[in-house]
Amino acid sequence: MKILVVYYSRSERTKQVADRIRQIFQCDIERIEDVESREGPSKFLKSTFESILGHNTEIKPSKIDPQGYDLVIIGTPVWAGTMSSPIFTYMKQNFLKFDQVAFFCTCGSNGAESTLKNMERLIRKEPVSTLSLTKKELKNNMNGKINNFISELKYELT
Ligand SMILES: Cc1cc2nc3c(=O)[nH]c(=O)nc-3n(C[C@H](O)[C@H](O)[C@H](O)COP(=O)(O)O)c2cc1C
Repeated sequence: MKILVVYYSRSERTKQVADRIRQIFQCDIERIEDVESREGPSKFLKSTFESILGHNTEIKPSKIDPQGYDLVIIGTPVWAGTMSSPIFTYMKQNFLKFDQVAFFCTCGSNGAESTLKNMERLIRKEPVSTLSLTKKELKNNMNGKINNFISELKYELT
């Protein structure tokens, strides 16, 4: 089974989860990158508004074509209760190329459920499985939750 992990991460938390999933599956991985830096308070506001309003943002061209992968696992930080605008943009650009999908997100403390639901709505495709991790869970139980997610994926896909 060909698996691709695609993620965006502004402050490296979602990256930790993406790297662990990639390590377990020994699969390909793509990091979505901004064209412009998102550092600083004005960029925090811009990110919030882009997410709330569902605006596209400028992302660098991706290096891996998701077409031909049996499963694309997409990860995002939660921004204002929904997916980050770079992942919104990536999903809009590529949804026709996805076969099966799974989603994961990281957040401070809330907004994971709406984020995962909005990702599903955006591409009108039900994920095989989902995973969410709060800041606290990332610290205390990251591997446990990731392992459950992986087991569910393996179960659903075999
Ligand atoms: C613009 C912005 C909006 C955010 N909105 C939320 C939110 O609604 N709920 C929440 O729990 N955390 C929120 N956060 C915190 C991030 O979701 C959290 O720190 C996440 O793990 C960061 O992932 P990253 O390090 O991969 O960028 C927000 C962070 C940013 C930058």
